[in-house]
Amino acid sequence: MAEERLHANLVLDRHGPIEVLRIDREDALGAMNFEIMEALGTYVTELYSRSEEVRVLVITGTGRGFIAGADIAGYHGAPQAVFDGFQRRSRQTFDAIASLPQVTICAVNGYALGGGFELALCCDFIFVNEKTKLGLPEIKLGLLPGGGGTQRLPRLVGAVRAKEILMTGRMITAQEAVEYGAALEACAPDALIPKAMEFAESLSEMAPVALREAKRVVDDGLDAALSAGLTLEQRVLGALYATDDGKEGIAAFMEKRDADFKGR
Ligand code: COA
Repeated sequence: MAEERLHANLVLDRHGPIEVLRIDREDALGAMNFEIMEALGTYVTELYSRSEEVRVLVITGTGRGFIAGADIAGYHGAPQAVFDGFQRRSRQTFDAIASLPQVTICAVNGYALGGGFELALCCDFIFVNEKTKLGLPEIKLGLLPGGGGTQRLPRLVGAVRAKEILMTGRMITAQEAVEYGAALEACAPDALIPKAMEFAESLSEMAPVALREAKRVVDDGLDAALSAGLTLEQRVLGALYATDDGKEGIAAFMEKRDADFKGR
């Protein structure tokens, strides 16, 4: 499958129901500038409308860096309004990634610092390799994260560990990321994309509506009171029971055959 260059630093590879988006800025370890953020935002917005066709998105980087944070050179001497504008745009883009209907897998190939770690935190799953280093080093610049790190990291690893990572600015290893519950799996560098793709393929074979709803129910439930989450779960399950795929899944089980899901 041919790669499509969406932007000088953004490459898309289509594999049927799975798309692989690669940040390609090796010389700056993937540092995120305004143009990359814009291109990412445009792609994600467009992906929303293709949830029937694309069910899993894998995001990765190139070489030693996934994304070593915001492009610090762009911050240097920038007016307050430019700085604030970049933060607003990153909030929009990261929120859009977090609420994509597709399952998102971040295959973190190297440094994921600042906005790189924050982008990964917007994904449903993080895969890391032995060279991956994740961190929120903004405190070392006298700043704090602005792409959701202070909010999404504690929700994933707990407040105490998140504060330790935020306040020291230290990088955590792949092993620690798994241990803290931030990453699903750590593997050898060469195995990263094959592992992420194998997982993506297994998810893309699930009943599409149930897959989308599984993501939504968990994420919306985490933002809600338990009783509201449980009510949502019952409503969604009832609606899934009425779908063709729900009927097909039950029939296939009874007839001892593989289900043929249609996505409706
Ligand atoms: N913004 C802009 N450029 C960056 C960058 C960033 N966030 N991170 C790395 N780069 C550039 C470096 O300036 C260097 O460019 P050069 O070759 O033109 O000098 C290149 O990427 C390679 O980085 P280098 O620092 O030489 O590699 P290293 O292996 O010695 O160190 C890091 C790697 C990730 C530890 C180091 O680059 C770093 O600390 N980066 C900044 C991380 C950060 O604070 N991110 C949060 C930003 S809010």
